[in-house]
Amino acid sequence: MSKTDYTGITENQKETWATGDFNEIARQNVVMAEALVEAVDPHPGQRVLDVACGSGTAALIAERRYCDVTGIDYVPGLINRATARAQANGQAIDFCVGDAQDMPFPDDSFDAVLSVYGVQFAPDQVQAARELLRVCKPGGKIGLAGPIPEGWSGDWFATHAKYMPPPPGVQSPLRWGTDEGVEKLLGPGVRSIENNQRAALQYYRSIDHAVEVFSTYFGPTIRALEKLDSADRESLLDDLDTVMSRYNRATDGTAIVENQYLQTTAFKA
Ligand SMILES: C[S@@+](CC[C@H](N)C(=O)[O-])C[C@H]1O[C@@H](n2cnc3c(N)ncnc32)[C@H](O)[C@@H]1O
Repeated sequence: MSKTDYTGITENQKETWATGDFNEIARQNVVMAEALVEAVDPHPGQRVLDVACGSGTAALIAERRYCDVTGIDYVPGLINRATARAQANGQAIDFCVGDAQDMPFPDDSFDAVLSVYGVQFAPDQVQAARELLRVCKPGGKIGLAGPIPEGWSGDWFATHAKYMPPPPGVQSPLRWGTDEGVEKLLGPGVRSIENNQRAALQYYRSIDHAVEVFSTYFGPTIRALEKLDSADRESLLDDLDTVMSRYNRATDGTAIVENQYLQTTAFKA
């Protein structure tokens, strides 16, 4: 059996996440990051790591508790944006460029390790899980918020996969959104895991606006649209409209899209 080229897949994914401007999408992640920080409950002075931090949403929230926060992401443009956001707020956060599968931190560095829709995308899931555990102190907490196979996230992933099939040999990020997946990935290194399925609402001016936001700023959607011919491009945009409409809870012409996701908190053994 041929070995999966994790290095090549990681490079390609990095280019995808560097496309567009994830900071424009990140506004939808604030509510999940707030809930995750509350669940993990880091105290002032504790060391907190935000893995695959993008423009720093969870890191900024944790720092408001006077935690000592570090954020890591492999897209330099997003790290620059995270740094600018922190500076604009007068928040001191150490943001650095790096891969979640090979983090430049010593063992047992952090009291809490967080990731919101981030580490789940690393193609080598076993290695990414090993890194989360390695950098967390014994007795420290790992907190994750991520997509699940059902609901908006699941349909959103399936729609993209229909037009841009994932590379062979790579497990779906949605594996992190199942009890069995989390158990398999973190289980050996933790003394307890708690999984809670939660709802987060995304707000847009309309369904058209929701689709426009993703097709303008969301790397995976932009890359898919770039690769398709015009008929398939239209078809993808129609499918995204259908998925947004399916989970729209607004009745006034705006879009309030319900996203079910998994919040995981685990104590490192
Ligand atoms: C959906 S965005 C979420 C960003 C941020 N956590 C938030 O909630 O706003 C996914 C992020 O994961 C980052 N990412 C994906 N795989 C990564 C990896 N292997 N190492 C570091 N960052 C990664 C991407 O660059 C992107 O910023």
